[in-house]
Amino acid sequence: MTPEIWSAVDEYIEQALLPADAALDAALQASAAAGLPAIAVSPAQGKLLHLMARMIAARRVLEIGTLGGYSAIWMARALPPGGRLVTLELDPRHAAVARRNIATAGLSEIIDVREGRALDLLPAIAAEARAPFDLVFIDADKPSNVEYLDWALRLTRPGGVIVVDNVVRRGAVTDAHSSDANVCGVRRLFERLARERGAAATAIQTVGRKGYDGFVVAIVGV
Ligand code: SAH
Ligand code: DHB
Ligand code: MG
Repeated sequence: MTPEIWSAVDEYIEQALLPADAALDAALQASAAAGLPAIAVSPAQGKLLHLMARMIAARRVLEIGTLGGYSAIWMARALPPGGRLVTLELDPRHAAVARRNIATAGLSEIIDVREGRALDLLPAIAAEARAPFDLVFIDADKPSNVEYLDWALRLTRPGGVIVVDNVVRRGAVTDAHSSDANVCGVRRLFERLARERGAAATAIQTVGRKGYDGFVVAIVGV
């Protein structure tokens, strides 16, 4: 089993189940052209987020970590009329690219890109009528994962879903002595979820065009 076959299978899945999509393809192209890192969710993962939003009939979605807006576009397209997505981005260059990509996708009225440190922006979001959320996707700086989970638990309705990206890290998550701040951040997230009475959670390992990683899925209020 090699990364080559993982990528080949992702290509097979995309060709079979994910028809070319002008706005999503343009978002990836424009993000690359603007020099953004190629770390958006894969197409198959983006569609999974979209399907999850539909499975729970999500109307309000919160994303932490926008990059070029690729995952936000996938999730926003799952929303019914009147649905809204708020996405938080620290880097003004990323936010600018995201806003352009979102406009190209015709979603500027649906997706609200907020610029700043997520931990600075979240208190205001909690105070707004847009909370509670049905779905929260955590995909920003990994050392802050526990803080983001705390906010997500506060801001998500019972029955709502929280997804956290990049929680396996090529298996490094098992290293209790890791000095990698990202690994430590993910391990603190697991420790917090293990104690959490207000949510039921699991994690799924993934391989594909982004290598070997995984995501946490949690449901709130169970
Ligand atoms: N969800 C995106 C990928 C996000 S990449 C997608 O799949 O398309 C992670 C993003 O989080 C980067 O754009 C990075 O600038 C942003 N980020 C890092 N630290 C942050 C912070 N403290 N607050 C908000 N965003 C942050
Ligand atoms: C990387 C991947 C991600 O999904 C992310 O959110 C941040 C970094 C990476 O592969 O480096
Ligand atoms: Mg990620």
